[in-house]
Parts: sequence; C-alpha cells; structure tokens
Amino acid sequence: MRANKTIFAHRGLPLLAPENTLAGFNLMQDYNIEWFETDVTSTRDGKLVIIHDDFLERTTSSAGEVSRTDYDLMKDTDTGSWFSPEFEGQKLPTIDDLVEFVNKTKLNLNLELKGITGPHGNDLANDLVIQLKEKLSQIDPSVKILISSFNSILLAKMHNIAPEYEYAILFEQHTLYPDWQLIADACGATTVHLENDRLTREMIDEIQKRGYKINVWTVNEADRANELFNWGVDGIFTDRADYFTGKRK
Ligand code: G3P
Ligand code: MG
Repeated sequence: MRANKTIFAHRGLPLLAPENTLAGFNLMQDYNIEWFETDVTSTRDGKLVIIHDDFLERTTSSAGEVSRTDYDLMKDTDTGSWFSPEFEGQKLPTIDDLVEFVNKTKLNLNLELKGITGPHGNDLANDLVIQLKEKLSQIDPSVKILISSFNSILLAKMHNIAPEYEYAILFEQHTLYPDWQLIADACGATTVHLENDRLTREMIDEIQKRGYKINVWTVNEADRANELFNWGVDGIFTDRADYFTGKRK
C-alpha cells in the first residue's frame, strides 16, 4: 500500500532529536528516509537560516523575532539544550549547512519558505528568493527539490525567478476554500499540502481530479496514514519518519 508514497521527515526526527538541527538531520541517515522537510527564513541582515518559528524563544537559547534580529546575535545560539542536554551545542543551521548536508547525503529536500515578518518583510523576501535560487543551484542535480510555503506571495516570488523547481502551496483547513486553485496556479504549484485535521476523501478526490498532487501534514498515526494512502494521497509529513520508514540495515 505504501509503494510510491512519500514519507517526509518533518523537520528531521523531532521526537528523537531537536527539530531543524544538523544532529536531527544526520540521524535520518540511520533510517530508510528518502525525503525530509525543513523551514527557511531570513534574519534582519539577510542571512538565510533554518528555523520553524518566527521567534527564537522556543527552539534556541536566544530571544527575539528572527526577521528583526541580526545573524550575529544568533550565530552562537544553542538549538539543542531546550530538547535535551545531550544535544547541547547544536547551532542554528544556515542555508549553506543545509546545502552541504543534502549534497553529502543525497536526501531529497522539501524546503518550506516561512513567512517573513517585520517592517522590511517585502525587501527581505525579494532578497531571500534571489539568494535561495543561487544556493539551491549548488545542490547536486540527483537531489529532488520541492519548494513550499503557506505564504502565496513568497512562493510566487520564488517561482517567478526559479520555475525549474517543483512547487507546493500549503493550506490550513480554513484557508483552503473557496479559492485554493487560483492560489495554487498563481504560485506555479502543482502540489497541494493539506492539513490532516478534518481532511475528507471528498476533498482529496476533488483536488486530485483537477490534476494536483497531495501531501498531508502532519500525520503521526499509522491508521490515519493508511487511510490517507488508500484515499490516494501522494505523501505525508510525519514526526515519526523513523517508524514509517524503518531502520536502515
Ligand atoms: O510543510 C509541512 C508542515 O511543515 C507545515 O507546517 O508549521 O510544521 O511548518 P509547519
Ligand atoms: Mg514546515
């Protein structure tokens, strides 16, 4: 049933190691993981960093809004201690660290563009997509790349300058209707990333009939994953990619 279905390791292996860290990414190599998802945004001075939240507080030893803080103030921050003392000393990965990691491991990458906050958001977003195009061009062509975002403007900016990649638009249930297809098409998205909660077979059928691929976030239960796969979804994001893919022999 799982043949041709994609398991995306969501932010790495966030139940085993701190999310979006090199320690967590490296641990993926112990499992039969082929794809992982991670998040990129910009600091105030235009450094591209790998972090999920708009704010540093939850997953680092620093505080403040990422897009309103200079990189110098977060380059030495600890991104592992909040999770467990075992991971003390993990650093905030940069886009260069991510490029190096995928070139080393050849794991396929779903890069989510996080919305950029603060008064200079539009300028930072324009700079982010230009930098990202250049950084992604350094990735080995054997690595598959899927670029996604909840932010349709950011996704469209990226698609406009880098149409060579595959794009996915992310929706929460309350942002899906009525105009999901207009938004997907305006971003050049051929894949739709749907929220698991309250997702029905009818919704999946309708979106697939119109020719889009579907990946669902975030699915941690095996029964629900099987149900979604039986309904025809192409992939799931999960915090338990270790469980869903199994240990490498
Ligand atoms: O990209 C799938 C999923 O990561 C979207 O939600 O909040 O975990 O980035 P979030
Ligand atoms: Mg994400």
